[in-house]
Amino acid sequence: MAKTPARTFVCQSCGAVTAKWAGRCESCGEWNSIVEEAPREAAPKGITSGQGGRRLGFVGLKGDGTPPPRRHTRIGELDRVCGGGLVPGSALLVGGDPGIGKSTLLLQAAAALAGDAPVVYVSGEEAVEQVRLRAARLGLSDAPVALASATSVRDIVASLDEPPGAGGPGVVVIDSIQTMYSDTMDSAPGTVGQVRTCAHELIRVAKRRGFTLFLVGHVTKEGTLAGPRVLEHMVDTVLYFEGERGHPYRILRAVKNRFGATDEIGVFEMTDGGLMEVDNPSALFLAERRGNVAGACVFAGIEGSRPMLVEIQALVAAASGGSPRRAVVGWDSSRLSMVLAVLEARCGLALAGHDVYLNVAGGLRIGEPAADLAVAAALVSASSGTALPADRVVFGEIGLSGEVRPVSQMEARLKEAAKLGFASALLPAMAERARASRRATGSGRATRAAETPGLAR
Ligand code: TYD
Ligand code: MG
Repeated sequence: MAKTPARTFVCQSCGAVTAKWAGRCESCGEWNSIVEEAPREAAPKGITSGQGGRRLGFVGLKGDGTPPPRRHTRIGELDRVCGGGLVPGSALLVGGDPGIGKSTLLLQAAAALAGDAPVVYVSGEEAVEQVRLRAARLGLSDAPVALASATSVRDIVASLDEPPGAGGPGVVVIDSIQTMYSDTMDSAPGTVGQVRTCAHELIRVAKRRGFTLFLVGHVTKEGTLAGPRVLEHMVDTVLYFEGERGHPYRILRAVKNRFGATDEIGVFEMTDGGLMEVDNPSALFLAERRGNVAGACVFAGIEGSRPMLVEIQALVAAASGGSPRRAVVGWDSSRLSMVLAVLEARCGLALAGHDVYLNVAGGLRIGEPAADLAVAAALVSASSGTALPADRVVFGEIGLSGEVRPVSQMEARLKEAAKLGFASALLPAMAERARASRRATGSGRATRAAETPGLAR
């Protein structure tokens, strides 16, 4: 007699399965993300107990032709983030908050690609007319994109299952994966099971037919929809589209890429005519800068292969009772705690009784430890009320004993600064660089922040 399968509860954020409901997922710590889903069919018996199984035709490592070339979207920022164009047969996930511009970006990419290859755009969120309106607004109505509004993966797969050249597509956009459903499952669209099954079916047909597949995935804080994280391991490339509300800048970041580097970013500006590429992000991030303000410091950073200057702003205020506030936007808050601790222990700058606010201007998120020194400079400047010279850039990693360590690509950082008219730099001692690169983990003697002109209080 068939046993009724037990109920299963699945975290919509990380996909962890539990036997009972809980308010908080034990795996990823997300609140209210656990939802009951239709149980999977009983696990099959061991494969060897059954019949059949096709013998595989093994092949050598060396292929007998050149791999198909990458397709270029002609959106330079997108191509670079993808590792130099789109790889045929690969699947890309484009994640981001609702309203950030994923549909706009992919419609623009679809239109640009449509000249070279058949491009299909399937929207599960918007009706055909809505997509057409957006296309008209973007001036793309004449692009030969094949558009459909659909949510059934069975229908979509049936429509795409042709080789390119024989009517099959070269590029397919699915907007969004959370609206798709497969009739092989009972659960509602947007649940982990559905999102995974639909993605799996679509990726399978993309590999078989050799088209490039874009899957749009919303990031949801509420956990009512399965987030893109449950798909990250299934796709070849994961791109996140980020930006601050109220800022026109958007940053496309590769967090996984089987066909390229993952530290690349692409910078766009959202305008009335859609997303525009930003060729010179440094100039953009510094555009609203006001000279001679205490607490502001220009950091010469590297994002992927590109140097990028951004302003780091700090505000230090007497704490109004209770524990002092530490608020950080665009940087790592534990890194801020470390810099504060080093400033206190090694440089005698006590901020323990003060609220500290730190902001990376323009909505960029910095991950580099090279920003330590710029953060320290902004903090010292804010607490002393002395502005840093307006034509100075700062970079360097700070160690726990207060030493400033060399960082990568120092020349590229300085070159970018010079290009934008900066005349001086506060940086790790250059002579240490060669030694540091030889002893990757060594902590060579370097400039002490407190001894450096401009940082001295
Ligand atoms: P959209 O691409 O629909 O976001 P997502 O697919 O990530 O949810 O972008 C929606 C926002 O972009 C919306 O607030 C309007 C704005 N927008 C522009 O500013 N200019 C434009 O040309 C377009 C098409 C959208
Ligand atoms: Mg959208």
